[in-house]
Amino acid sequence: MTTTTGITSVTGAIGSVRTRVEGRDKVTGAARYSGEVPFAELAHGWLVLSTVARGRIRSVEEGPVLAMPGVLTVLHHGNAPRVDIDYVGMLGRPNPIVGIFQHDRVPFAGWPVALVVAETSEQAREAAEALVVEYDVEPHDVAFRAGRPDAYTPESTPMVQPETGKGDVEAQLDASAVVVDAEYTTPEEHHNPMEPHAATARWDGGRLDVVDSNQGSSWVANELAQLFSLDPASVRVRSEHVGGAFGSKGLSPHQVAAVMATTVLQRPVRVVLTRRQMFSLIGYRSPTAQRIRLGADADGRLRALDHQAQSLTSTVYEFIESSAVLGRVLYDADAHHTLHRLVRLDVPTPTWMRAPGEAPGSFALESALDELAEKCGVDPIALRVRNEPETGPVSGLPFSSRNVLACFEEGARRFGWADRDPRPGLRREGRWLIGTGTAAATYPSGVGPSTAAVTAEPDGTFTVRINAADVGTGARTAMLLVAADTLGVDPDSVRVRIADSDIGPAMIAGGSMGTRSWAWAVTIAANELRERLALGGGIPSEGITARSDTAEAIGALSRKERHSFGAQFAEVAVDVDTGEVRVRRLLGVYAAGTIVNPLTARSQFIGGMIWGLSMALHEEAVRDQVSGGHVGPDLAGYHFAAHADVPLIEADWVDDPVPGDPVAIKGIGEIGIVGVAAAIANAVWHATGVRHRELPIRPDRVLRAADEARRRATEGIPGGMDEGGTRGGPAEGGPQGGGAEGGAPGA
Ligand code: MOS
Repeated sequence: MTTTTGITSVTGAIGSVRTRVEGRDKVTGAARYSGEVPFAELAHGWLVLSTVARGRIRSVEEGPVLAMPGVLTVLHHGNAPRVDIDYVGMLGRPNPIVGIFQHDRVPFAGWPVALVVAETSEQAREAAEALVVEYDVEPHDVAFRAGRPDAYTPESTPMVQPETGKGDVEAQLDASAVVVDAEYTTPEEHHNPMEPHAATARWDGGRLDVVDSNQGSSWVANELAQLFSLDPASVRVRSEHVGGAFGSKGLSPHQVAAVMATTVLQRPVRVVLTRRQMFSLIGYRSPTAQRIRLGADADGRLRALDHQAQSLTSTVYEFIESSAVLGRVLYDADAHHTLHRLVRLDVPTPTWMRAPGEAPGSFALESALDELAEKCGVDPIALRVRNEPETGPVSGLPFSSRNVLACFEEGARRFGWADRDPRPGLRREGRWLIGTGTAAATYPSGVGPSTAAVTAEPDGTFTVRINAADVGTGARTAMLLVAADTLGVDPDSVRVRIADSDIGPAMIAGGSMGTRSWAWAVTIAANELRERLALGGGIPSEGITARSDTAEAIGALSRKERHSFGAQFAEVAVDVDTGEVRVRRLLGVYAAGTIVNPLTARSQFIGGMIWGLSMALHEEAVRDQVSGGHVGPDLAGYHFAAHADVPLIEADWVDDPVPGDPVAIKGIGEIGIVGVAAAIANAVWHATGVRHRELPIRPDRVLRAADEARRRATEGIPGGMDEGGTRGGPAEGGPQGGGAEGGAPGA
């Protein structure tokens, strides 16, 4: 018997490599996604989205469309079933984004104004495209920029505390030997999973049955029950396979439209979003404008940390991109201030997108730390060692475990950091300037209440029921390993049932909380079952089932800072004549508690890191100020890292025991992206001497920054020295120098 942290292990299943349970089904096409499950008498709905960004619907001219082949109905604000748009769901506040067809207001371009339902998907599409909708157009405002006078500090939400502070930031900045005061921007970014959002709804003997693609079928079922004022027991949502989610798959307008249509028509109705529709209906990451001020002693010890972040929200829902939260975990300072401000615009509502807050926030904060290291003449890793807090910098609470320095140590060793010359612009290979950079990563290790059941079957096998969602992460397989490990049996004798709200409530696959939450419930049930089986006796035909509910145990958890940590390393090559940046190497080393399945865990980390690369160099959704919609809302117009952009990527982890924790699993879905863009931007500075404070680091920005550095060098402006003798090109711009591209933001 071996003991992994927290969980008594008989077989050692936890921590063993296992391919996905459903892998064969997926690669052979046997796995059915929610837009593919067959139903008799299935009708198809096609959403019609607004073409204006603000105004009122004057008319929906359904008459001609109803006469088109196969068309069954056209739903819109004038005839759709009424719903309770004021219900308070899991978000803790009304979520009017799903209150479609309830009023004539158009809050943004791409708002659902009608659903055309027909016998076939093609007929529905043709009719939807023929539907004439007239609007009374009002002027819209979609201009996100730093320092807008109408920016405001939002109220606290169940998810985000907008502001924290201690000490006197201005006084500590004044007393600091070294100050970094820099502004960073990140653009609007989109999660657009491979499998589009799709739902099929039908009434089945008085129950609403929805086959859907989501991150939590209990969640979606509960929200639908409240929205449609139904008994929760009369709603069933299933979500057997999900082709990616990343924060985008909760309750969206398409499920609501499908339920409305099946209620009206009394036959199954399917609504699948197109890729272009996904750009306005499923949420996205807000652009950010962030200002960071760091004050330090000459040796780099922080006296002041001030992180102010501005993001946008829509007119229908207030969402906070919590970019400033990671400084509350990573670094202490005598004076410490974090603040989020919002601008309300005529745009779709942003939402969680992989590492909401930490992803854009770490670009700013971890870039600023690198600027401070440069100014102090301290190695970036040594700077972080010097500022390692004992307890939560804002909360004062102890950390459940904090092994970020071990990540840096192991990462530095593997990456060859010790050989790095800290001076920028020195390494050259042909037309390429080479640089390396690093950044810290952190993400909360939260947990949510879950129920589970584990059954010993008469044939000697075991069935685990946990309403997890496997969004492509390998959750089903992870739960198999957790159950087998706790039962002390061969994983091949265990089957796992997930993704059906009838199983019973469980945490969603979100906030990197799924595995930790579900594993806790499965472990308790499996332990109890093992004890009951140890008493001996036969197994009846219905099996022996043990159940668990973690709600009480979670409520009794001691207050601690619980987070995963990591260290990101990047090597880049920059051609300052073409502006091209190539990432050559990425290494991420993580401290994330017990790793349940190294195979799928590595995939999770690497997937996040690729996204970080994509965020650093490529991703940017451009909103057209005139129409209020996107320029090129599809996967051709929205540029992201493809295979040829992705270099050798390594992800690994250090031991991270979590003493006293009931599961010792932390969750790894999001931390992989955190810090990667900063590590790359820091590497681009190291290659060229030019700071990039705006993402993405596009070729035109590299060229413009290099030109600016040249100009400063020519004019003898301090900080513009061409240290590397590299064709008079790249030169150090200084912390307020070359990277800024006019109109610098001020949060
Ligand atoms: Mo994740 S962005 O919390 O679903």
